Amino acid sequence: MTRSTLHSPLTALKTVALVLFAGVCGFAQAAAHTPVAPMPEWEAAQLEEALANVSNGNAKEGERLNHFLYCSACHGDNGNSQSRNWPSLTGQKPDYIMKTLLDYQRDMRRDHYRKAYVMNRMSQLLSPPQMADLAAYYAQQPAPVVPPQTDLKLAKLGARLALQGDDKRGITACAACHGEHGESGITPDTPALAGQTPEYFIQAMQMYKAGMRTSDIGGVMRMFAKNLSDRDITVLAHYYASLGSRTAAR
Ligand code: HEC
Ligand code: HEC
Repeated sequence: MTRSTLHSPLTALKTVALVLFAGVCGFAQAAAHTPVAPMPEWEAAQLEEALANVSNGNAKEGERLNHFLYCSACHGDNGNSQSRNWPSLTGQKPDYIMKTLLDYQRDMRRDHYRKAYVMNRMSQLLSPPQMADLAAYYAQQPAPVVPPQTDLKLAKLGARLALQGDDKRGITACAACHGEHGESGITPDTPALAGQTPEYFIQAMQMYKAGMRTSDIGGVMRMFAKNLSDRDITVLAHYYASLGSRTAAR
């Protein structure tokens, strides 16, 4: 498929409408109880091959796709989320963005509320070159600002675990991989966490914990998440949200 022979934006619009409608009616929740097939995982070599051409992404084309395919309806005009319901995509390296789109396409991410479902469907509309274009575009945008719902008291409580970890529970300092200020990872496919919406952060951690997100190579995040309480996850979410940029990015 070439860049120009895209699936129609109508298909994208229908997917968005279907998922929003399902959310409103609440019938999506009922489906969460149906048994799910074992989830696929990445092998390192396979992922490396899949990401080999990410640097060829064309940010201008990515900007067009962000609007043409209605990604902007949820993720904001430039990938910097304006709502607590959707994650911000900015501040990430292109490799991580492209990887997540492949993760969804390969059904490595699910959740109890079928929010990931919209992304499973949207990712089916994209070819690898288009994923690279979108990744290049989001990576060039300013990092997310501190979300308005961030609770600074909770944020303070999260700092210790994030910066020092907890030897007794086998939890490595998050900062060792996600950067001292959550600004990005030690490898291009480790995400930035600074300024991410707490709601999304909590959901991501809970899905690792429940084994419904298997996109983490070697199960690293599933292992850490398993040893964290709900309270730990909440304070960490507000800590990382509070590290967002304080200057307007929108
Ligand atoms: C109806 C709303 C909606 C639309 C439209 C949408 N997304 Fe998403 N997106 C979400 C939600 C919700 C999540 C988080 C799902 C989860 O928990 O896994 C997400 C997650 C993502 C992530 C992963 C972020 C991370 O930090 O791991 C990427 C990348 C992404 N979307 C890109 C896109 C692109 C590209 C498009 C357009 C082709 C798009 N999205 C369209 C709602 C949407
Ligand atoms: C050994 C390195 C390492 C450590 C330590 C680590 N992480 Fe991660 N983390 C990763 C990698 C790699 C990913 C991407 C996995 C994937 O693609 O699903 C990730 C993903 C995440 C995500 C999902 C982000 C998104 O945009 O969806 C969150 C949230 C997260 N980590 C939080 C934490 C927290 C909190 C800690 C500390 C308790 C921590 N991580 C410790 C490597 C690490």
